[in-house]
Amino acid sequence: MANPNQPTVYEHLGPEVFDRIVAGFYRRVADDDILGPMYPAEDMAGAEARLRMFLEQYWGGPDAYSRERGHPRLRMRHHPFAIDGAAADRWLELMAASLSEIPAAELDDAARVAIWDHMVRVADMLINTPG
Ligand code: HEM
Repeated sequence: MANPNQPTVYEHLGPEVFDRIVAGFYRRVADDDILGPMYPAEDMAGAEARLRMFLEQYWGGPDAYSRERGHPRLRMRHHPFAIDGAAADRWLELMAASLSEIPAAELDDAARVAIWDHMVRVADMLINTPG
């Protein structure tokens, strides 16, 4: 249960940080040899918005993701993509590069570690292909 006296991670960081996390990731996706071909070249802005809305909602921000997309069901939504260990590692590598561009003054260690741990857990859960 959210504690009404305690700001959520989203409230603590503000929307700008979530914009930057996701923008820095997507800036690297298009040219990536593993991930580039999986993502919709014709709708990268839409893909960027979906990940941003998901993360904002997960971390206690607005619920735009659920209103637009319904229940996240991430495993099901990733089913069309063959995600092996190398793809999951690459996803995390691009995300780590994006996070490293955001200074500690905007993203403190506690929030950084929490966001990163969640991403590692989700990436691991989304592996659906051996290899
Ligand atoms: C493990 C490696 C991963 C791969 C290869 C991968 C790949 C993809 C691809 C190709 C899409 C479709 C882009 C679009 O049109 O929206 C997508 C969507 C999405 N991914 Fe991932 N992803 C991975 C990990 C993650 C992780 C770790 C998260 C969350 C922390 C995540 C959250 C999402 C979300 C929220 C969407 C949009 C779902 C929707 O509403 O349709 N993904 N992913």
